[in-house]
Amino acid sequence: MNQTLLVNKTDFGDVVPVNIDEAPLAEDHIRVRIGPFALTANNITYMVTGDRMGYWKFFEPSEYGIDRPGAGRIPVWGFAEVTESRVGNISVGERIYGFFPVAEMLDIKPARLSRHSFHDGASHRIPLHPVYNTYVRTQNDPGFDGDLDDLQPVLRPLFTTSFLIDDRFDENRFYGADQILILSASSKTALGTAFCMKQRGAAKITGLTSARNKAFVESTGFYDHVVTYEHIHTLDGGEKSAVVDMAGSGEITGRVYDHFGENIVYNCMVGKSHRQGGKPPKINAGAPPVMFFAPDRARERIGEWGRDGFADRLGAQWIPFCQSAKDWLDINKSQGIEKLLPVYQAFLEGTVPAAKACLFSLQENHP
Ligand SMILES: NC(=O)c1ccc[n+]([C@@H]2O[C@H](COP(=O)([O-])OP(=O)(O)OC[C@H]3O[C@@H](n4cnc5c(N)ncnc54)[C@H](OP(=O)(O)O)[C@@H]3O)[C@@H](O)[C@H]2O)c1
Repeated sequence: MNQTLLVNKTDFGDVVPVNIDEAPLAEDHIRVRIGPFALTANNITYMVTGDRMGYWKFFEPSEYGIDRPGAGRIPVWGFAEVTESRVGNISVGERIYGFFPVAEMLDIKPARLSRHSFHDGASHRIPLHPVYNTYVRTQNDPGFDGDLDDLQPVLRPLFTTSFLIDDRFDENRFYGADQILILSASSKTALGTAFCMKQRGAAKITGLTSARNKAFVESTGFYDHVVTYEHIHTLDGGEKSAVVDMAGSGEITGRVYDHFGENIVYNCMVGKSHRQGGKPPKINAGAPPVMFFAPDRARERIGEWGRDGFADRLGAQWIPFCQSAKDWLDINKSQGIEKLLPVYQAFLEGTVPAAKACLFSLQENHP
């Protein structure tokens, strides 16, 4: 039996665990036991943008023998262990890292197999973005450090985005800004971005956050200045500022534009952690938002730097960031669907404390 969680694509609070019968493993496939995997606001955004960006298509229930029209599976990042293999070069017990559904097990058809990684060659996944189709073979990947094991499912996809945003800003000389305004400053993607940008010292880094997260954001030391959304008007509106927006709240973005006007020299639109934050505002003055999609930027940089060059540059920032996270991130690991469901609902409502990281395995007694 393989337990999985189905979500109503038009009402994310409506979830149902179902058990799928496991067929014998097909030729040229591996079967993996999923976990631990992480849940963050990013996974909620995958659902919010699921139709537009294709995130529902990765683990479409009908592709896996589940007949439930209107239901989808939440994609998550995490580890998995091979429990059965019908592929010569992949052994039972091998550990991989990548994109999975919230489920106990997944069958994968490895393609483009190398020492470091493989893709899932399932026909419905081939047209999708390769970044989400790659499984890293943990034992052969220099980017993995056993000491940082629990941090990786939570921070790796988010910090890769942070690294790429900072790189984009550096390439463009910070768009001439004296100040970078980072919205939803307590999100992990924002913290990583501030961490990278602060080291460059190219501009003042100002974090905008909610009142309940202000003290936490300040305690990380990654921002030069932290203000709450209610106090945006206290900032110097005459300062040339670039925005990095993880919140995606029309209401908050509107306040920022109203206050800074033409002094907004760039707006990097990254996320929508405030999923109920309203539609984008009408912008009368200042640079309009430009969408940032990390997988596309990663593909561009891998093309220019090569895989090793990319891994070296990312690794140089990633390891120190993870080391720092030991001081500010509280990791909670749990097993079983009963533990996951209340935390999932809390993520939908946005009530999970920013300092908390949540890792899960659906299978009980997962090592
Ligand atoms: N474009 C890309 O390629 C890319 C890549 C990675 C991530 N992202 C996006 O970046 C965003 C941040 O992701 P993350 O995983 O880093 O987030 P996270 O660490 O889980 O962020 C948690 C923070 O988000 C805010 N928040 C979360 N849910 C909320 C709600 N329902 N209402 C109001 N505020 C809420 C709160 O921050 P504040 O109180 O500080 O507002 C909260 O502390 C996501 O939208 C994600 O999809 C985009």
